[in-house]
Amino acid sequence: MKIRVEPSGTEIEIDPNKTLLQLCHENGIHINSLCKGQPKCAECRVKIVKGDHNVIPPTSIELSLLGNNYYLDGRRLSCQVRAFGDVSVDVSEQIEREALAHKKVRGFRSMNKQHQSHAVLDTMILQEGPPSGKSQSDEGRGPKK
Ligand code: FES
Repeated sequence: MKIRVEPSGTEIEIDPNKTLLQLCHENGIHINSLCKGQPKCAECRVKIVKGDHNVIPPTSIELSLLGNNYYLDGRRLSCQVRAFGDVSVDVSEQIEREALAHKKVRGFRSMNKQHQSHAVLDTMILQEGPPSGKSQSDEGRGPKK
């Protein structure tokens, strides 16, 4: 019984006493984890591609963290998944997120400069009005009698 990890095609021997997160970390496959499996962070999302009948179904806590993702495309929290049969798992979301985390901040900042807003200039109110001593409300009423 094996877990096939896509897109690399790595195969991991199943240990029902360990979660998918633990098995991936032991085999050098990076999956984000902030809460170390409590579960609280929902950073460890993976997609079960095949064999979802060979994993323990999600708990209500896991479902509340996943939202609709479980029903839409079969995403699960890898820290909660224990497999007892052949499973295929897609970790491409983790790979994409890791790549974004290592992007240079400098590049991000320079992109922001291109999209600077000029809203402050557009909303600036220039004060044009009567000379001092006369209020705006007096204007347009005509001469006082
Ligand atoms: S590691 Fe935090 S929810 Fe799975």
